[in-house]
Amino acid sequence: MKVVQRTEDVRRNVAEAKAAGKAVGLVPTMGRLHEGHFSLIDAAKAGCGYVVVSIFVNPTQFGPQEDLAAYPRSPEDDKAGCRKRGADLVFMPSVETMCGGGPLTTVAVTGLAETLCGRSRPAHFAGVCTVVAKLLNIVQSDKAYFGAKDYQQSVIVRRMVEDLNFPVQIVVCPTVREADGLAMSSRNEYLTASHRKQAVALSGALGMAEEMIRKSHPPAAEVVRAMVDHVAANAPDGRIDYVQVVDPGDLHDVGTTDGPVLVALAVRFGEARLIDNVLVD
Ligand code: PAJ
Repeated sequence: MKVVQRTEDVRRNVAEAKAAGKAVGLVPTMGRLHEGHFSLIDAAKAGCGYVVVSIFVNPTQFGPQEDLAAYPRSPEDDKAGCRKRGADLVFMPSVETMCGGGPLTTVAVTGLAETLCGRSRPAHFAGVCTVVAKLLNIVQSDKAYFGAKDYQQSVIVRRMVEDLNFPVQIVVCPTVREADGLAMSSRNEYLTASHRKQAVALSGALGMAEEMIRKSHPPAAEVVRAMVDHVAANAPDGRIDYVQVVDPGDLHDVGTTDGPVLVALAVRFGEARLIDNVLVD
């Protein structure tokens, strides 16, 4: 496994892999890798002969009041994990390489980026899209792997790739969870022991919502109300950012639940903001 910092080194290694007839897979990450990230590396290994993992804490996707400085970083563990899971190339660019000169060009997917997480993080998805566009152009992989845990991100990236004709296939992989159901996240380590216990309320509320929908297709508002009550009862310190039932394609709020729906929520515990979702189709 090679570790490189410069774009020209990525390009050269990827060109060699392609010349050897290998399909190239990219797994973009912000590091502090856990089993959720590793599941994407596994999927990329299964689908491609050459796997590139990018590790870059992208400043442009953090809001002014957010946790950029505190975002957990563990480059040595990350490299060891990538090696163990069989990655071929790790790209760890500097902020200068990715954002040098203060980029004047940004990529924004309107509409899709303004609901759910976009409500409280207005510049977030433009930051994500701009950096993902750059990574796709630098690596020029055949496939790129994303997690369903960040469902809105995956919808937005797919749309960007479609609208801007990126020659890459986006693969979305299932959410990996802790034994008690909490979706794995680099941000879980911000939680105090008490908040960690309460955080199970997110997946608990989603499980309940899924059951309600499968059983009787209640109005979306009823599902939202039951989820809000579940969080209030099981996570007294949790502050709900949103609970929404939306169309999985365009992310608009739906009134009924008889078609496929995405149920999603975000809850803050202290400084930590956790998200989770379930697709019910
Ligand atoms: P990060 O939060 O590090 O996540 C990298 C990838 O891992 C994303 O596609 C995310 O959906 C996936 N992932 C995280 N937790 C997961 C879990 N529990 N199960 C399955 N997949 C999981 O998302 C980002 O970084 C950034 O926005 C990025 C795309 C790298 C752009 O900066």
